[in-house]
Amino acid sequence: MNIKPQTPFPATGYFGPEYFCDREEELAQLIRNIKGGNSTTLIALRRLGKTALIQHLFYTLQSKYLTIYLDILATESLSELLNQLSTSIANQYSEKSPVGKKLWQTIRSFRPVVSYDALNGSPLISIKSSPEESKKSIAEIFSVLEKHSKRVVIAIDEFQQILEYPEKATDAWLRSLIQQLKNVSFIFSGSQQHIMKEIFANPSRPFYRSSQFIKIGKLKEERYRSFIISKFKEHSKSISEETVSEILKWTDLHTYYVQLLCNRVFLASKKVITTEIWKEEAAKILKEQEFVFYGYREMLTRPQWDFLKAVAVEGAVYQPTSSDFISRYGLGNSATVQRSLMSLQRMELIYKENDQDGRNYYGIYDLLFSRWVRRFFE
Ligand SMILES: Nc1ncnc2c1ncn2[C@@H]1O[C@H](COP(=O)(O)OP(=O)(O)OP(=O)(O)O)[C@@H](O)[C@H]1O
Ligand SMILES: [Mg+2]
Repeated sequence: MNIKPQTPFPATGYFGPEYFCDREEELAQLIRNIKGGNSTTLIALRRLGKTALIQHLFYTLQSKYLTIYLDILATESLSELLNQLSTSIANQYSEKSPVGKKLWQTIRSFRPVVSYDALNGSPLISIKSSPEESKKSIAEIFSVLEKHSKRVVIAIDEFQQILEYPEKATDAWLRSLIQQLKNVSFIFSGSQQHIMKEIFANPSRPFYRSSQFIKIGKLKEERYRSFIISKFKEHSKSISEETVSEILKWTDLHTYYVQLLCNRVFLASKKVITTEIWKEEAAKILKEQEFVFYGYREMLTRPQWDFLKAVAVEGAVYQPTSSDFISRYGLGNSATVQRSLMSLQRMELIYKENDQDGRNYYGIYDLLFSRWVRRFFE
């Protein structure tokens, strides 16, 4: 955390509380769960700030708890889970630290190949092991943590990936392992909300009701607005409430996009930030992303592409198979739309969400794409 971001609006990573806006309620809830010895399931649409919230929590807990963060998106088997767990531990606690010593000893007993990242020198642990050996080794690491003098919190990010492992019933095995731990609490985080709900809210699943749900939404508009104004002000730049509101409207208050645009506006501006400045930066961002959008077109079938554009124009679509929607955008018939909808959800280009009244609607994941499509209409 000693590296400073280039601007007060980092669009990747976590850099400490001064760069982090609000989330006080979610943070308090997480801490309550941990103190009560409960696990938490954290769900949200992509890029709203799950990972940053976990980092912020860990920053807050740091000296009192032993915290371990691991992202398992890249793992495809139990043995890779073991590698990722060991690598995360090795990265977060050095072999020489009092905490790291025992953990490293345990990891070394698995006869790993330890290499070092050529760019930043951080350790990478690779252990060759069968599924059964991997299970045993993971259990051994957990049992070391169980005996640790401090309470332990493990956050497993992109947890839904566990269902992709070829080993059967990994979730049942992990659940029974976790159940035995008293000194360790877990945070399971994931962006594929329907899979996360399936894991934790389906009575026939091993993780059913094993944790408390926290759903992260958008930041509160007033909080984010004053945060943004104060960050500019700290660097002797001024921006009016109206201008920030325009930015928040364009980015739909979606954290990553707000950060991205503010980051660019910060770099582009001198003393006073005007509407022209942010619009110019927004247009530049869209221009830079065009190859991504054309990439979508190449990857998709014609009906999928047309449907995606229609959702982008609408913003939120409640009844994608209604004849009204289909005829307005010339989308063929409802079976075609249904098929496109399924595929686009699988590709994570379209999400399904509930509104405040609990009604389902569909929206576009890539906000920039939707702005790009809409520019012809606005
Ligand atoms: N509360 C916040 N205040 C300021 N910036 C934030 C906040 N939350 C997130 N961010 C910024 O937004 C970026 C995106 O957030 P983050 O990566 O945590 O989202 P995510 O939900 O984990 O996304 P993904 O689904 O892609 O993993 C972060 O890199 C961080 O810079
Ligand atoms: Mg994340």
